[in-house]
Amino acid sequence: MCGIVGYIGKSEAAEILLDGLRRLEYRGYDSAGIALFGRDGIFVEKKRGRLSNLEAALKAGNPPHATAGIGHTRWATHGEPSDINSHPHTSGRVTLVHNGIIENYMSLRRSLEELGRQFVSQTDTETAAHLIDYYYGETGNPLTAITLALGKIRGSYALAMIFSDIPDKVYAARCDNPLVIGVGRGENFIASDIPAILSHTRDYYIIEEQEIAELTRGGVKIYGLGGRDITAEKQLLTADWDVEAAEKGGYPHFMLKEIHEQPRSLAAAILPRFESGLDGLLHDELPDTSGIKRLHIVACGSAMHAGLLGESAIEKYARLPVEVYIASEFRYNDPILVEGDAVIIISQSGETADSVAALRLAKSRGVPVWAIVNVVGSTIAREADRVLYIWAGPEIAVATTKAFTAQVAVLYMLALRLALARGTISRGRAEELGKALLKLPETVAATLTDERIAEYQRLASFNQNKHDLFFIGRGQDYALCCEGSLKLKEISYMHSEAYAAGELKHGTISLVTEGVPVIACITTEGVAEKTVNNIKEVRARGAHVILVAKDSLICESDCYDDAIRLPDADEFVMPIVGVVPLQTYAYYTAVVRGCDVDKPRNLAKSVTVE
Ligand code: M6R
Repeated sequence: MCGIVGYIGKSEAAEILLDGLRRLEYRGYDSAGIALFGRDGIFVEKKRGRLSNLEAALKAGNPPHATAGIGHTRWATHGEPSDINSHPHTSGRVTLVHNGIIENYMSLRRSLEELGRQFVSQTDTETAAHLIDYYYGETGNPLTAITLALGKIRGSYALAMIFSDIPDKVYAARCDNPLVIGVGRGENFIASDIPAILSHTRDYYIIEEQEIAELTRGGVKIYGLGGRDITAEKQLLTADWDVEAAEKGGYPHFMLKEIHEQPRSLAAAILPRFESGLDGLLHDELPDTSGIKRLHIVACGSAMHAGLLGESAIEKYARLPVEVYIASEFRYNDPILVEGDAVIIISQSGETADSVAALRLAKSRGVPVWAIVNVVGSTIAREADRVLYIWAGPEIAVATTKAFTAQVAVLYMLALRLALARGTISRGRAEELGKALLKLPETVAATLTDERIAEYQRLASFNQNKHDLFFIGRGQDYALCCEGSLKLKEISYMHSEAYAAGELKHGTISLVTEGVPVIACITTEGVAEKTVNNIKEVRARGAHVILVAKDSLICESDCYDDAIRLPDADEFVMPIVGVVPLQTYAYYTAVVRGCDVDKPRNLAKSVTVE
């Protein structure tokens, strides 16, 4: 899950590559590097750590003037983060950058070493450089060399490559990892993701599996399997994201900006889908659901938590059995998929390796696969039978916020659409749910007033030196707790666990001692009293309880220490309302603990390795 960029044109390549890498740093930030075509050959600079280290090295190292080159930002897989393991990697006349994993690199490396090739890094990527250089030596043709080398590689890759004796061309190839080619005037670009090219061009090609792109200043050629020129068959797409949307817009962190964007992103996900009324809901996207008897929701991390919330709503309103799986478990557990089943893959990026593998497994078993995805044209979006886009816009912070709430909103619309189709909901209740969804942008905006934000910040300030925190809730509130807990630990490094409130006393309550914070979520009336009993149990052991509940469910003040009051809405949508304060509380906890909010340690935005 690295980021790659490439450029060929008339401008200073180093600046363009660095700018692209800055916008891709969310994909990994263990190291960064660039290779430039200087007058005296290829110049490479690469440095362990953040992009700023590379920038400093370039300033000190006086790089040559160059108008073509490639660049990389790394999330380490094979080989520790170090200068030597950073990309680009060079072998003979070939210099390249890679996103992905070469699974058979050990055996390839052994064969290449037997041919006398010497390796300098511990990476799998260096094998690709040697292999392509070897075939380039044999054939003298870069395209043939790339094709032959890729034929030997097992695994996933998006590659950008330059050849020291071909200064007027940059090459790219892809298998299982995202790659776009930006098309400009007199200049062309390679990138793992669209934000990296947006300030230069909006026109781009998506490179598909096994395709190779050849970029010159004057144009782009794309070759398919066997070296056939398929440029004329490729569709030139136009991005409608603006550069502004991919920037921080005045907020100190992308995460805070994205938290505040939620009223807008929810409106984009929900409002257009109601344009043809309740009876038209999701019909264009899912025309026929009549044969479906069971759903399997498969995803990772927060997307899986969205799935848990979807499960509650679909089972409750549509009375359709739903199973939720972690994608990395699903793919190796030989799941039972039979006629009448459908699989839903949820993924913000649409590129998560385990989710892609789960999708392919489900397809190979012949069941319909629907995808709930943010990134248009991503692998999951392209390969699913049906796609429900969440339309959240670019999400840059590693911790997902607006994509999560939009995923849940889409699942709730799906629950409503299925309930109507199956006749498991009265007209009146369906209308109430529809109204609650339509009002959701406004309800969420009410959780983000200055006054409320100040309160989340005040409560978070107590976490500066705390070690543990527990979340408790029942039913849909348990799923809400899972997301609140993940958000907190991934960005603030504070240990936290989410517990089904009734389960705590089966062991974990032994960890609750004087002053331990416990966040209790109550958005469901039916289980409110039961959760209040559990709150009393932890308070009796000295816990400091923060109650998160809608006004009408706030219990007597002697059963909590602090309260986050949620605006009142139908309990159907309350988890979306409730998660926003939890996201903001996690954000301010990370800030008060001095953490790098947008780029938490060891994590990457898009997990394209299993
Ligand atoms: O792109 P995806 O939605 O497939 O990503 C899934 C998870 O990696 C992601 O939700 C992860 O858990 C986030 N860091 C949570 O904030």
